[in-house]
Amino acid sequence: MHCVRKVNESLTWVGADDRKIHIFEGIYPLKRGMSYNSYLLKDEKTVLLDTVDKACLETFLENVEFALAGRKLDYVIVHHMEPDHSSTLKTLLDYHKEATIVCNQKILNMIHQFFGKDLDAKVHLVNEGDTLNVGEHTFTFVNAPMVHWPEVMMSYEMKDKILFSADAFGTFGALNGHLFNDEVDFFNDYLDEARRYYTNIVGKYGPQVQAVLKKASGLDIKLICPLHGFVWRNDFAKIIEKYNLWSTYTPEEKGVLIAYSSVYGHTENAMNILACQLVKRGVKVDVYDLSLTDVSVVVSNAFKYSHIVLGSTTYNMGIFLLMHNLLHDLQAHNLSSRTIAIVENGSWAPQAGKLMKEEVNKMKNMTILEEDVTIKSSVDEDSYLKLIALADAIKKSLE
Ligand SMILES: Cc1cc2nc3c(=O)[nH]c(=O)nc-3n(C[C@H](O)[C@H](O)[C@H](O)COP(=O)(O)O)c2cc1C
Ligand SMILES: [Fe+2]
Ligand SMILES: [Fe+2]
Repeated sequence: MHCVRKVNESLTWVGADDRKIHIFEGIYPLKRGMSYNSYLLKDEKTVLLDTVDKACLETFLENVEFALAGRKLDYVIVHHMEPDHSSTLKTLLDYHKEATIVCNQKILNMIHQFFGKDLDAKVHLVNEGDTLNVGEHTFTFVNAPMVHWPEVMMSYEMKDKILFSADAFGTFGALNGHLFNDEVDFFNDYLDEARRYYTNIVGKYGPQVQAVLKKASGLDIKLICPLHGFVWRNDFAKIIEKYNLWSTYTPEEKGVLIAYSSVYGHTENAMNILACQLVKRGVKVDVYDLSLTDVSVVVSNAFKYSHIVLGSTTYNMGIFLLMHNLLHDLQAHNLSSRTIAIVENGSWAPQAGKLMKEEVNKMKNMTILEEDVTIKSSVDEDSYLKLIALADAIKKSLE
């Protein structure tokens, strides 16, 4: 049975929730599912904006048929060819052989790669700035390369002033019946997952996100319809402000992310001591054990906070693998402009500190505090004092 919601008089959400999905894009754990948004506009012509993941095929087809209410489908605008939005495109077109695909050349190239050339007769190519009139409504197209793949475009509907923003402004998590951002307490309940989604998926491409935000700033926008998560109908400034911070690698908060790897708990003990000392000094602190917390959560918090403490045991003359993985992940997402503190542990030849510094130095505009700490197996009088000195140094650099 169909499950649709009206966005406005002419636009209907025909997407779907997938609560059974536990891993998104093969790597990101999801606790509360994922939504795939698709929208149907009914005017003189009917227009479907994107499709959904194949896991939701049945619901999606039912939704489209219900919303069409017997009309034929004239256009399918494809903004992004990643399969979470396009793997049902071919099946949809099997049911709607009359429909014309509207996309740019790069999208068409990917349609060929995913589906072959069978669909070619039904393609209407558009470039940036082109318009498509479908009655009272007119779309104009804006390329958004690398937000999140190179072919991505967004579209803007001029009558109702809607930005169809592709992956931008999305979040992890199912919609659970909600459609609009103000039907949930977004900034309390969903911001962490929206940040984890943005930073891990698009975080690497800050300059490209900035370029699109600049293009969009010239538009009068009443609604933002992303491909995941809620339709935005207010609080634009608040979410755009977050995107501005994330895409310029500017911390949201002055505070300290402590991320550590510890085999037997001695490095963990040092991190606990440091956390207590920082909190006593009035510093905001967030602590993660890399063995327990998925790295995507830690990456997300590295974007959030101004300071990062990295604590690692030395492991076969190297950095503990999970810490190494975190550093690699931060590099891969272009994290920059953070203040870093280093705590290492080793029982015979501590090495992790030096190696972590080398990894941090591969990132742009990082400041490494001089007050690093070496622990020989367990925290002793000397390393305890060094942890206190580090807490003082962090406090000072936050001022
Ligand atoms: C598999 C393994 C490899 C290790 N390799 C080194 C090493 O190369 N150099 C060193 O100084 N200590 C090495 N250690 C010792 C740890 O750094 C040391 O036990 C430290 O106290 C662990 O801190 P933790 O209690 O936080 O795990 C190794 C420990 C393990 C378990
Ligand atoms: Fe994507
Ligand atoms: Fe997506």
